[in-house]
Amino acid sequence: MLVLGGTGKTGRRVAARLAARGHRVRVGARSAAPSFDWTDRATWGPELEGVDAAYIAYSPDAGFPGAAEAVGGWARRAVAAGVRRLVLLTGRGEAGAVRTEEAVRATGADLTVLRAAFFAQNFSEDFLVDMVRGGRVVFCADPGVGEPFVDAEDIAEVAVAALTGPEHIGRTYDVTGPRLLGFGAAVAEVAAAAGREVGYTPVPVGAFRDGMVADGVPAGFADPFTALLGEVLDGRNAHVGDGVRRVLGREPRDFAAYAAAAAADGVWDV
Ligand SMILES: NC(=O)c1ccc[n+]([C@@H]2O[C@H](COP(=O)([O-])OP(=O)(O)OC[C@H]3O[C@@H](n4cnc5c(N)ncnc54)[C@H](OP(=O)(O)O)[C@@H]3O)[C@@H](O)[C@H]2O)c1
Repeated sequence: MLVLGGTGKTGRRVAARLAARGHRVRVGARSAAPSFDWTDRATWGPELEGVDAAYIAYSPDAGFPGAAEAVGGWARRAVAAGVRRLVLLTGRGEAGAVRTEEAVRATGADLTVLRAAFFAQNFSEDFLVDMVRGGRVVFCADPGVGEPFVDAEDIAEVAVAALTGPEHIGRTYDVTGPRLLGFGAAVAEVAAAAGREVGYTPVPVGAFRDGMVADGVPAGFADPFTALLGEVLDGRNAHVGDGVRRVLGREPRDFAAYAAAAAADGVWDV
């Protein structure tokens, strides 16, 4: 099986679970050998050899401009090469992500879509981790808006079930955590688990974008990234989904359990 984004937050967990079940796993990423790059179609092809199913975690984001063209174009080639089964990771409430889903569905592949909430692991493995370590998270989420943070471990378990179970073909799952939590409350839970003081400062999305650019992030990334954040954090996603329960027959892992495990790993130690 092929795991695109197989070194990332969800992909490496998907790859590890598949390997533990005895599947032969190939990772698609720029750092893989051979290298696979979404932005360079000349690198596409070798990753498909001998593959019958693939997990797709597009980078930078399935809701970004150009994602539908890239992922749809790759999926057409994959289906032509004999790959039948595709599991696509997208985000909830993103118009761009829906276009990406439609582009992949149009290939006629046996598709399962996982529409995920905001990942808990953004606090420990992505753009929020340095702020947590520094003692203050400055972010463009209204603390009064609840988000059902989802654990990447749950996404991976759902993805593996979808890749290996025919009953998930044609389904779209809303993959979230079990409860709504405002960003200030989430940071407080991270702080409690880490045993340190970490504050939360909400800022307007424009100010967050300007801060990214001032820190050296190219505007070509900061603009679509913050446009997406403005979309998904405006309250439209303030509801819990049932994807984990439908696929795995159990409740999703709670944010407090995630925070305790991440703290035990020492990820927020300074
Ligand atoms: N973060 C969230 O809260 C959230 C919420 C909902 C949905 N999502 C979805 O999650 C997806 C990202 O998945 P993730 O968070 O598991 O990944 P991730 O942690 O961001 O890791 C990115 C992965 O993609 C690879 N990659 C980066 N640039 C690439 C390129 N140009 N060509 C080929 N591979 C590339 C990376 O490896 P190399 O660096 O070696 O290439 C790595 O394996 C996005 O499509 C987004 O829509 C995220």
